[in-house]
Amino acid sequence: MPRTRASASPLFVPRKAPRAGRKAARAGFAEARRQARIAGAPPKRRTEGAFDPELRPTYPPSGRPGPSSARGSKLGLPAHRMTTATASGAYPFVAEGGLGADGVFIGRDVHAEAAFCFDPFSLYGRIEGFTNPNAVLAGIIGMGKSALAKSIATRSIAHGYRIYVPSDPKGEWTAVAQALGGHTIALGPGLPGRLNPLDAPARPASVSEDDWATELRKRRLLLLAGLARTVLKRDLQPMEHTALDLALDLVVTEADASGTVPLLGDIAHVLGSPERLDRALGNQTGHLGSAAQDLAHALRRLVHGDLSGMFDAPSTVEFDPTTPMLSIDLSRLGGGGDDTALVLAMTCASAWMESALADPDGGRRWVIYDEAWRLMRHVGLLERMQSQWKLSRGLGIANLMIIHRLSDLLSAGDAGSRGRVLAEGLLADCSTRIIYRQEPDQLTTAASLLGLTGVETQAVSALTKGRGLWKVAGRSFITQHVLHPAERKLFDTDARMAA
Ligand SMILES: Nc1ncnc2c1ncn2[C@@H]1O[C@H](COP(=O)(O)OP(=O)(O)OP(=O)(O)O)[C@@H](O)[C@H]1O
Ligand SMILES: [Mg+2]
Repeated sequence: MPRTRASASPLFVPRKAPRAGRKAARAGFAEARRQARIAGAPPKRRTEGAFDPELRPTYPPSGRPGPSSARGSKLGLPAHRMTTATASGAYPFVAEGGLGADGVFIGRDVHAEAAFCFDPFSLYGRIEGFTNPNAVLAGIIGMGKSALAKSIATRSIAHGYRIYVPSDPKGEWTAVAQALGGHTIALGPGLPGRLNPLDAPARPASVSEDDWATELRKRRLLLLAGLARTVLKRDLQPMEHTALDLALDLVVTEADASGTVPLLGDIAHVLGSPERLDRALGNQTGHLGSAAQDLAHALRRLVHGDLSGMFDAPSTVEFDPTTPMLSIDLSRLGGGGDDTALVLAMTCASAWMESALADPDGGRRWVIYDEAWRLMRHVGLLERMQSQWKLSRGLGIANLMIIHRLSDLLSAGDAGSRGRVLAEGLLADCSTRIIYRQEPDQLTTAASLLGLTGVETQAVSALTKGRGLWKVAGRSFITQHVLHPAERKLFDTDARMAA
C-alpha cells in the first residue's frame, strides 16, 4: 500500500486581522503541522497494546536513569584488570559465549541480547560437565513453566523428537497433543479409557528374548510393590515381596497358557487365595497366605475401589511409537483432598508408558513430568522416576521435571530418608536447571541446593513471566522465553481467570 504524505503550510493572515484571530491561526497551524507529522510517520512496528506489560523491561534501552547509571564518569572506581574467566566467578553472566545455534529456539538471552537455543542431545558431550539430557524447571505459580515445556515440546517435534507426558493432572496438554497430531488418553471414573499397567510392550530388536523377559518381570514387580506401598503407606515386609513374586509368576504363566494378558485383578485374586500361595511356595517354611492379606486388600482398591476398571482391563489403546506426542490426562482424578487415587493412577500410567519407551531404537524423546511436585511425597513414584532418569542416556530420552520450589525436593522426606535421597539424586542427575521466579523465603534453599552465587540469587528474585535463570552444566544464562502468537493462544491457561 503506498504511503500517504501529509504536510501543512502557514496560511496568509491579513496584517490588520485582530490579535486574537492571528493567535488562533498560529495555533491552528501548529496543530495541523503536528497532525501532518503523525500522519507522515511510518507506522510503529509494535503497538503498545500488543506488548505484555509483564514482559516490559525494567529500564528503557538507554539504561538506568540518574546517577546510579554510572555514566558520565561519576562512579569513579579504581580500575581493576582480570580475565573474563576470573570475573565470571564474581559475576557469572559476564562475556558468556552462548550455547551455540543447535536445537530449538527458546527465546532471548537477556544479557547477550542474542537468540538462545537449547537441545540437550546436541549439548551432550559437546560442553564440559553436561553429563545427561535431563532438566528440572522450578518456579512459582503462573510464571510460564508449562508454557516453556509446551514450547520445547512443540518446537522439538519439528526436529523429529517425540513427546510423552505420562501424567497430566490438569489436563492442559490435551489441546497441545491434538494440535500437533498426537493422542491423549483420558482416564477417570466413567471414561472409556483403560490402561493395563502389566502390558508387555513389543520387544526391542536389540534385546534378547531372555533379557526382555527378565526386564519385564522386574518392571512388573516394581510396579506392584509401588502400588502396594502407596496404599499401605509403609514399606513391604520380606514375605510380602515373596508373595508378590509368586502371585505374578502364577498369573503370568496362566495368562501365557490361555493366550490372554495378565491383569491386576488376577494378581489380587491370587494374593487373596492363601492355599495357592502356600502351594506355590513349596516346602519352604512359613505361611505366605496370611502374610499376603494386606497386599490383597491394597490391590483390591484398584480392582473394586474408586479406580475400579481403569487399570484392571486390557488396554483400550495400543502404544503407537510413531505418534509425535502422547499425553495421559488424569484431570478427572484426585479431587477431594486425598491424592492416593491420583498417585496410584500416575504409577500405573507412567509404568505403562515407561515400559513402552524402553526401546533404545525409539529415537530421541522428551518425557515431561508437569506438576511433578505432586509426585515428590511418594517414594514409589520417585523410584520410578529415578530409574527413568538413570536410563535416559541409554534410551535417548530427556526427562523434564516441573516443580514449584526447590524445597519440593526436600518435602520428599527428612534428611537422610529414602525419599529425600531419591529426590536429591534426581536433581543431581539434571545437567540443566531452569529457575523461574522463587518466593523470597525460598531463595536460600534454592541457592544452597543449586550452588547459586549472590548475583544469581538476586536475579532469581526479580524474574518476570517467562524469564528464567538457566544453569546449563554450571554456566548461567538469563533467558526470556518468547512465545509465538499461535503458541500463546494454544498454551493459554489464564483464560478462565480472565473470563
Ligand atoms: N513467555 C511468555 N510470554 C507471554 N505469556 C506467557 C509466557 N509464558 C507464559 N505465558 C502465559 O502465562 C500464563 C501462565 O503460564 P503457565 O500456565 O505456563 O504457568 P505455570 O508456571 O505452568 O503455572 P502453574 O504453576 O499454575 O502450572 C499462560 O496463559 C501463558 O500463556
Ligand atoms: Mg503449569
